[in-house]
Amino acid sequence: MKVTKAVIPAAGLGTRVLPATKSMPKEMLPIVDKPAIQYIVEEAVNSGITDILIITNRGKGIIEDHFDRSPELEERLLASGKKDVYDEVVAISKLANIYFIRQKETKGLGHAVNCARSFVGNEPFAVLYGDDVIIGEDPACGQLIRAYEKYGKSVVGIKAVPENEIFKYSSLKVDKLEDNIYSCTDMVEKPKTPEAVLSLYSILGRCVLTPDIFDILDNTPPGAGGEIQLTDAMKTLATTVGMTGVDYTGKRYDMGDKFGILQATVEIALKNPVLAQPFKNYLKELVKTL
Ligand code: UTP
Repeated sequence: MKVTKAVIPAAGLGTRVLPATKSMPKEMLPIVDKPAIQYIVEEAVNSGITDILIITNRGKGIIEDHFDRSPELEERLLASGKKDVYDEVVAISKLANIYFIRQKETKGLGHAVNCARSFVGNEPFAVLYGDDVIIGEDPACGQLIRAYEKYGKSVVGIKAVPENEIFKYSSLKVDKLEDNIYSCTDMVEKPKTPEAVLSLYSILGRCVLTPDIFDILDNTPPGAGGEIQLTDAMKTLATTVGMTGVDYTGKRYDMGDKFGILQATVEIALKNPVLAQPFKNYLKELVKTL
């Protein structure tokens, strides 16, 4: 079955980016000239996704406004002859069919994904974590969808993380199938001891799940941090029917982390057709003073 639906969980509290995220959702933090979540929606659309459910919570209404029309602003832009910006602003509201639902309590990523059950129905669907921006020629979500179509199992986007950081992430048991594609037969969220580490491969930012995940989530008790962890539910899939892991191409930026936000800003500015050259000149001068 074709994957046309995606879920973007964006209801986290963003405590690692405080105080910026006290009233501003981290998903709306700008990278150069677009909020982070717009890059994610564009990646989904470029991967063949037509319907997107964004999971929000209290105080995240500006995400809805961003993907809506803005008649007053549009009128002003047209009247002042700014047709290019007008087109860009209107295009945001036409990217995809975008739906919203609120996660009423912040009980974890697994709990957030479970809010998507009625939207998803009985189809496979993609999950794009709302604070992970991935930039690359070949959209990461599309790479996972192709692996789903080829192997018929739920797919996780994976990357190797430094050994001293694996305790902050998930750790996966993987075996190579071809090139950058692996079978995944077990996983653990935030391994507590070196013995619990299955490999340095971790799930980062993207997955494609079959709808049987919802019944599993219903029966998943709170795990690490007292939250209902998506990894704990995916572990059931991995150890029973098995999953596929794709070490996707593209650069991932963690917008839930202050350093990640800085990296995204600098590197994406250096790719911007208008800003790249003046920004490069500025950086070269700045580097001399460091
Ligand atoms: P994180 O664990 O990075 O989110 O979740 P967080 O809680 O905002 O982070 P910190 O640790 O407090 O800084 C990864 C993704 O899952 C979403 C987040 O919005 C983020 O996109 N999420 C997390 C939810 O939608 N609901 C939750 O209850 C938790």
